[in-house]
Amino acid sequence: MRFQPKYNTYEAAPQWPENQAARRTVPGTVARDERLEPIADTLPMTFDQALLDRGQERFEIFCSPCHAASGYGNGMVVQRGFPAPPSFHSERLRNAPLRHFVDVITEGYGVMYSYRDRVPLEDRWAIATYIRALQLSQHVAYDSLSASQRARLADSVDDSSREAPQ
Ligand code: HEC
Repeated sequence: MRFQPKYNTYEAAPQWPENQAARRTVPGTVARDERLEPIADTLPMTFDQALLDRGQERFEIFCSPCHAASGYGNGMVVQRGFPAPPSFHSERLRNAPLRHFVDVITEGYGVMYSYRDRVPLEDRWAIATYIRALQLSQHVAYDSLSASQRARLADSVDDSSREAPQ
């Protein structure tokens, strides 16, 4: 058995479609551990502090090496030469639905590979929610703040050089 004509995985196989020995799954079949239900369009679980905390933890483990803890895209791996991802604080990604982040984690995006195997679906939603919080941390309308939040903001701003935002 060991010494016989055979293909190894990923070997070229000219007589088969796509010229490769590794075959695609038969249409209508799934891998044993593959989830069957379609991914929801909006957050399918309760939004609470625990979800955000989980998202932050998973984000810092899996995403911050490239996207940076701040989400600006200059993480350590990028500083060592990996292509820089776009900032999460752009107009386009601020307006992207949560589902977009879940899809990028699931499928990968351009040179970013898929995290499907490493980040289970629930954690993808948690990370997406946390990215939204990160975006808000850099871009929130002053008018939407409560009086006490405005007071805290004023305290934290070096007041000699700045005026309160209009
Ligand atoms: C190894 C580096 C690396 C890691 C780790 C990484 N990314 Fe990325 N990510 C990239 C790069 C590079 C791009 C830009 C890809 C391109 O445009 O070709 C990108 C793009 C994106 C985008 C932008 C998609 C768009 O619409 O422009 C999102 C969102 C994203 N990543 C989310 C994540 C999340 C969430 C994680 C963690 C689960 C993660 N990334 C982990 C490198 C990484």
